[in-house]
Amino acid sequence: MSIKILNEENRIILRTKNTMYVMEILYGKYPVHLYYGRNQKNPELTFENHYCAFSPYYDEHGTKFSPDTAMMEYPFFGMGDFRASALRLYDSVGGTNITDFVFRKAKKFRGRPDLGGLPAAEGASETLELIMDDPVTRAELHLYYTLFPASDVISRSFMIKNKGKGDLELEKAMSLALDIPKGDYDLISFQSTYPHERAMCREPIYQGNRRIVSRRGSSSHHANPFFMIVDRKATETRGDAFGFNFVYSGSYLDEIEKDQNGMIRAMVGLGEESFHYLLKPGESFTSPEAVMSYSSKGIGELSRNFHRFTKNHILKESPYPLRPVVLNSWEAFYFKINEEIMVDFAKGAAECGMDMVVMDDGWFGSRRNDRAGLGDWTPCPELFPNGLGAFIKRVQDTGVKFGIWIEPEMINPDSDLYRAHPDWVISCEGRDRMLSRHQMILDMANPDVVQYLKDSFDKCFEGIRIDYFKWDMNRNMSHAVSPYLPPERKRESAFRYMLGVYELYRWLLERFPGAMIENCSGGGGRFDLGMMSVSTQIWTSDNTVPEDRIFIQYGTSFGYPASVMSCHVANRRSEATDPRRMDFGYAVALGGPLGYEFNILKVSDEVKEKMKQQIRDYRRYEKLILNGDLYRLKSPYEDGCYAYYYAKPDNTELLVYYLQVKGDPKQRTHKLKIANAIRGVTYRDTRSGLEVSGDDLRRGLMIQADKDDAYARIFHFTLYGSSLKY
Ligand code: DGJ
Repeated sequence: MSIKILNEENRIILRTKNTMYVMEILYGKYPVHLYYGRNQKNPELTFENHYCAFSPYYDEHGTKFSPDTAMMEYPFFGMGDFRASALRLYDSVGGTNITDFVFRKAKKFRGRPDLGGLPAAEGASETLELIMDDPVTRAELHLYYTLFPASDVISRSFMIKNKGKGDLELEKAMSLALDIPKGDYDLISFQSTYPHERAMCREPIYQGNRRIVSRRGSSSHHANPFFMIVDRKATETRGDAFGFNFVYSGSYLDEIEKDQNGMIRAMVGLGEESFHYLLKPGESFTSPEAVMSYSSKGIGELSRNFHRFTKNHILKESPYPLRPVVLNSWEAFYFKINEEIMVDFAKGAAECGMDMVVMDDGWFGSRRNDRAGLGDWTPCPELFPNGLGAFIKRVQDTGVKFGIWIEPEMINPDSDLYRAHPDWVISCEGRDRMLSRHQMILDMANPDVVQYLKDSFDKCFEGIRIDYFKWDMNRNMSHAVSPYLPPERKRESAFRYMLGVYELYRWLLERFPGAMIENCSGGGGRFDLGMMSVSTQIWTSDNTVPEDRIFIQYGTSFGYPASVMSCHVANRRSEATDPRRMDFGYAVALGGPLGYEFNILKVSDEVKEKMKQQIRDYRRYEKLILNGDLYRLKSPYEDGCYAYYYAKPDNTELLVYYLQVKGDPKQRTHKLKIANAIRGVTYRDTRSGLEVSGDDLRRGLMIQADKDDAYARIFHFTLYGSSLKY
């Protein structure tokens, strides 16, 4: 677990717990990639070039090296590599956007580089820094490789400095580039639409260029930045698997390109269409962090690497290590809330053993529907005649904590804020302003806007204990221009917007240290590592229909841990009147931190009793859900069910799920092989009393599908009897 810079051999070797990454500085000038894979003691690695006709080469080295056919560490535009490039820089003096950076030196240091206002993973062990110069533009490039050894993750970012005399313009900025040797690989990505986020898609990688992209100013519902490149034969437990993600929440580009030789280039970064950055002489730019991981043991292990990484290095320590079970007002009342309704709601929540009530949209300014009020962060006096503080105290007196919804980045044209500051809106001069959900986006690149929001929330919640914020964001960015920025900087608007957003998040966390933040963007529209670095959990999707949630949670589980996946039992298909559906909704919601979306003022005593039981039940395994290791067994796309389990690291406790997508008239039997079960011991299911040996669990727990819809089985196995000695 280290970085070795072998100057004499022009080699650099990075090691994490199970992986190894090797590069060579070819001819002392060009960093080329040799290997990323399983850790090996003394692998024989030599640089090979599969030279092809029409590929350019330097006369000095002949066809032994062409940037077009070598595995490059970080490819530049226009310098003889015809594949997609990681960096394109326009030189206003020379009038070209070609660069050819040459290696100057490598150094290593403890910890990680500072990324300024960008989110960054914490607790890195070491960083490799490659310093390179481009003699024509006089730009200096620093490539960073930061190690998180226990999670088998290496993160990548860069810093570029203009050391010349003219302006430079960054036209494409990819944080990570990795060339993978020739092979038959599949791409696994998570793309869909609102509200069916992160639908898993596996497709062969063919020759050509494939992009996963968001141009929406947010990571989006439509395409998650996380993706995997896996051996065509890879399964949950076997095969080579590479994974990639971006610690950023705005527009991004993932680029996957298979070249003429069958090699694959994978890149993650800010891309080009939605990004541009001016570097005046002396100025520098630091890219967001992208992360990669590798597993030789299949897709499941790769997911667990990312889960471990996110839990240990990305997520903030939550003020609530065990998450509050919340009752949220949105699906119960939508905008029809007031003090008395919410206090009764809180009483109902307390009666059912819940920890917190969240007052969703509709509590401030003139916000009685989605057409007005966003931006005016003052409690509405008609709804809370005695003030927000007095109302919240009444809620907290019922015995539950209090959470509140905010949507800081947005503004309705029908708001006092817009009437006072029409210039505070992301918009393009001379062009019609566009709406989405009747709202516009505040110019978070403008420090006055960020300050206004800080002042508003400071005043609004002065002297009040808020235990939880639900930070929402309900539109994507068109006309992505900050009126505040000067013309030459306007194309930086979307990037600088994100810096303002992260600043406000950090301020909120500092100003309300006891509060946790649940992130939301119309559900899971910003389900990314950038948001996770400033929040505790994320509202997985607005779609609370359990049958749909099975697919959403399955897809989400590939890149993200259960502890961030906020899951509520809701009353979307008669869950409040049909006990079987309510059990089913609960079993699906047990995939992450639990909550409810019921109108508790209207439900029957039986339903309340059921909620109480469910919450008591959840308490027994919430630790395992939040901290356990995930093993997927069956795919809802292929097997008609999603089956998986969470295991305690020592495997003495297992929570096994069988979630049937819909009724199966053939009532097939599914065999769930619990490979982590300990041999020679007996487990007991604490829910049903079923006793079963570890060996039998390994051979397979047999589950017969039900002919009807809404069917789920949950088993909570703990060691039993004499086996407790284990
Ligand atoms: C979208 C969110 O995803 C919902 O949960 C709710 O908070 C609404 N916005 C409120 O406007």
